[in-house]
Amino acid sequence: VNTDRARENRGATGGGNSLERAREDLYEMEETLRGGVREDSREQQTLRKLLEVVEQVNAELGVERVLRLIASRIIEIFEAERVFITDVAEGESIRFCLAASFNGQTVEHPENEVSHTVIHEVARSRKPTLAADALSDPRFAEVSSVRSLRLHSVMVAPLLARGELLGVVYVDNRMLSGAFTPWTLSLLSVFANQVGIALRNAQLFDELNTARTELALSERLRAIGQVAAFVAHEVKNPLGSIRILSNALEEKWTDPEFRARFLEVVPREVARLDKAVQELLDYARPTPLIKVRLDLVKLVESTLRLYDPQILEARVQLRRDFQRGVPGILADGERIREVLANLLRNSLEAMAGRTTKELKVTVASLSQTQVGVTIEDTGAGIPETEIKRIFEPFRSLKESGSGIGLALCQKVVREHGGHITAENIPSGGARFCVSLPIAGA
Ligand SMILES: Nc1ncnc2c1ncn2[C@@H]1O[C@H](COP(=O)(O)OP(=O)(O)OP(=O)(O)O)[C@@H](O)[C@H]1O
Ligand SMILES: [Mg+2]
Repeated sequence: VNTDRARENRGATGGGNSLERAREDLYEMEETLRGGVREDSREQQTLRKLLEVVEQVNAELGVERVLRLIASRIIEIFEAERVFITDVAEGESIRFCLAASFNGQTVEHPENEVSHTVIHEVARSRKPTLAADALSDPRFAEVSSVRSLRLHSVMVAPLLARGELLGVVYVDNRMLSGAFTPWTLSLLSVFANQVGIALRNAQLFDELNTARTELALSERLRAIGQVAAFVAHEVKNPLGSIRILSNALEEKWTDPEFRARFLEVVPREVARLDKAVQELLDYARPTPLIKVRLDLVKLVESTLRLYDPQILEARVQLRRDFQRGVPGILADGERIREVLANLLRNSLEAMAGRTTKELKVTVASLSQTQVGVTIEDTGAGIPETEIKRIFEPFRSLKESGSGIGLALCQKVVREHGGHITAENIPSGGARFCVSLPIAGA
């Protein structure tokens, strides 16, 4: 049992190993038969050809091609007239995966051309079978071509892959009786066993491809859904307010209250639209990076300066912890500044309305190859259920957030060969770390 299992495992790992197994089987068979046959006999040539086919079939991907290859080579090697390959014959009906004939003619109604009894029998018993003279075999009484033509040879073998039944191979020759022998039958069944593995692999490959295509499609649909939600939220709302006010414009323009409201709302909503569209474009547009050697500390300093007024006004305590002599980075300064600005803005937004407002910004070497910026705040932190998803585009927990900020940060940082991570600080608040590769490292 153990050696069988070991064999199966070898077979299970793929084409290369099933090839090996095919070689072993065919070699064993050759050995046992050697006593009875002459050197370089026709049988040995057949064996060699079969081995070649097993190798060929193993190199093929895609069920269709594998089936066609199997059929054409069976016709050639066994001097067969026609080959039928069926699915597992469960129940009464038999599904034909392929029907081929030696002259390339299509077989119109394969179901009338084969003995269903024999196919069911082989599928059930998993034992190959031979009918040297189908005319005198009661199992073929219903087969129209056997009744109309006087002679008929048939051999049928199960298509197996590691013990699993995939279908049945049905080979016939209407011109000759006795075209197939127990020897050719045993060759066919060893062969069917080997190509079965290749066929199964091809099926798995096809299934994988289908699954991959479906996944890609559902990913795309999800992305479209996200954009649609974004447009609904960010564009429809401001447009709605603008439309309502515009409709009332003619009638109410003399009303000073209305005018004040109009002048307050319209520019604000237009700005909101503009920001949303700009963010979406920034995120979606592939912008080439203009990388130069930069001092990360200076970049952080200059970004922080932009937020000085806000930090002051919100009474946020800012702590800088900048390591000296941090190696330079090779980066697009504008894009990295955008990343830092988004993180700072998020932190300030997270601390709005809280009593303790502390912002800590650290710049330090992280390793021989990486430098990092860390931004910590004392906001409410990120809900644990969201922490894995906040970098996804359009993911926002804020009333007026578009959820593009962090997605953009991640995109830019990755384009620079860096990483961005988010975590909650046990004592409260969130910590975002951006690591970037050192120039020349
Ligand atoms: N410092 C932080 N503390 C707590 N939660 C945060 C912090 N930074 C981000 N988040 C959470 O992650 C979400 C996504 O942030 P992101 O910056 O991508 O979008 P946003 O800030 O909501 O909108 P915008 O596109 O305007 O930036 C936020 O809505 C918020 O819930
Ligand atoms: Mg944000």
